[in-house]
Amino acid sequence: MSNNNLLELAEIADLAGASKQAVSNWCMRYDHFPRPIQNPQSGSVWEREKIGAWVKSFNGEETHVLSFININGGGGITTTAVAVAEMLAQDERKHVLLIDLDPQTNATASLISEDQWAEMDKDGRTIAQLFEDRLNPHNAPKFDIEKATAHQVSTIKGGIARLDLLPSSIRLIDLEYRISMIALSGNFTANPLEILQVAIQPVIDRYDYIIIDCPPSLGTMTKNGLRISTGYVIPATPNLVATLGIYLIVDNVERFAQDIGLPIPPLGIVATKVQANNMHRQVIADLTTKRLGRFSEPGGLPQPSLFRNKIPKTVAVARSANVDADFRTLKEKYGVAYDALHGLTLEIKQLCEKKRH
Ligand SMILES: Nc1ncnc2c1ncn2[C@@H]1O[C@H](COP(=O)(O)OP(=O)(O)O)[C@@H](O)[C@H]1O
Ligand SMILES: [Mg+2]
Repeated sequence: MSNNNLLELAEIADLAGASKQAVSNWCMRYDHFPRPIQNPQSGSVWEREKIGAWVKSFNGEETHVLSFININGGGGITTTAVAVAEMLAQDERKHVLLIDLDPQTNATASLISEDQWAEMDKDGRTIAQLFEDRLNPHNAPKFDIEKATAHQVSTIKGGIARLDLLPSSIRLIDLEYRISMIALSGNFTANPLEILQVAIQPVIDRYDYIIIDCPPSLGTMTKNGLRISTGYVIPATPNLVATLGIYLIVDNVERFAQDIGLPIPPLGIVATKVQANNMHRQVIADLTTKRLGRFSEPGGLPQPSLFRNKIPKTVAVARSANVDADFRTLKEKYGVAYDALHGLTLEIKQLCEKKRH
């Protein structure tokens, strides 16, 4: 067949390593099987890109892209995202990319040394350069995703094989503002919410998981992360202030998902920095019974589930971000909170990898 972007039934069977009969069965059985394009000469044909993505997903080979989001900063978004990325790579032997979208660069600072970061930032090898390129469309783009990816990162000795990092930069603060202004003016050539999506395409298939550490807002950076996400996780300290925003997040993400026509389901809420006090106990009880605040009101959105594993507030976790510390293993790094963080990682993995068939 001449058109490279289109596939006939037999070609789909080849691609999927299945019989033609199996492919026509999938076509009838699964609502999510891509719709064919009718071709008067050759019968039904399908778009290669859609079929490729479907077959990967059907075989459980798709890349799971998870944004870690809260609008309340300081509640453990970064700590949770970094620990889950490390454990998926080290303990579960997955290929993982962590993308730091927060200008505060906390995830970056806890995975690579200050020296390495300074050098990468100087050479434009951070996510900031990607957005800067889009603001100057007449100059030759400088961002190169291969060069901007740091390999084998983590504070544990020798780094973690299979864990890559796309670092952030404080320069993102200014850039986020300028990108939002362009978005508002409607005066842009590339969609400002798809900048990350376009950049990540060439490498996405290398990873089993992409973990995105979002800034504590629902602005342009977070939307760029959500645009490529197959789901999201809400880390939250169980106090009233921190949990008030959860309804807003769920509502906002759902509307964004509808706008772009792609599902971005919440995987769940993680209780972080948990202490043994009455306030935390009460909020955890509400979260467990799915009766948190506005979620419990008539007509309210369904509340995402609370993950079974809750992350205690401990000295070891507070110290874990120290890049100079000399940890040999993740158990040593996270101390008594290791089991909860690892349990959470397994819960997330299970939700992502449950088969569609
Ligand atoms: N489970 C925990 N126990 C103790 N300290 C924690 C824990 N989780 C996070 N912290 C500390 O709280 C602060 C904010 O955490 P961070 O993950 O950076 O939050 P966010 O990304 O939501 O702003 C950091 O100093 C971090 O070390
Ligand atoms: Mg953070």
